[in-house]
Amino acid sequence: MLKSICYKSQVKPTLSILEFESLFNQTQTSNDKSNITGVLVKSKDIFFQIIEGDVATIDSLFEKIKKDNRHSDIIELLNKPISQLSFKAFDTGYTLIDDIDELYGLQIYITDLQNNHFENSTLFLKIIEDLLTTD
Ligand SMILES: Cc1cc2nc3c(=O)[nH]c(=O)nc-3n(C[C@H](O)[C@H](O)[C@H](O)COP(=O)(O)O)c2cc1C
Repeated sequence: MLKSICYKSQVKPTLSILEFESLFNQTQTSNDKSNITGVLVKSKDIFFQIIEGDVATIDSLFEKIKKDNRHSDIIELLNKPISQLSFKAFDTGYTLIDDIDELYGLQIYITDLQNNHFENSTLFLKIIEDLLTTD
């Protein structure tokens, strides 16, 4: 069975660019190996992440993520079973977004999902829009 977890959190203020890049690399490599799809976005001091995959894999990963001191104030936005992976179409592997132009690219992608009646697309779009309009 598949599930998806989506959350946002506060980036640790002292996180250096090097530490941040190493987190992105680690995430991408490890998720590709474990067949986890989704997206990790850093927009200013906010992380936004969607992870999708096998229930046990996602639950155990999220337990680790919640304990990670590179961020805090985790707010769970979605945690539920899904019938299909929404992010599988990204064939570049786990997707990382750290600049605003790419975030608009994601928004276009999600709108496309929405047009194709993909589950959760409306919620994702709303969250991304909220992120884009944060301050
Ligand atoms: C914002 C954020 C997102 C993360 N996302 C992932 C992820 O998608 N996949 C992953 O393997 N680790 C992710 N991590 C790192 C995990 O918290 C953890 O360090 C990593 O899974 C290695 O754990 P291990 O050394 O116990 O195997 C993330 C960390 C942070 C701060």
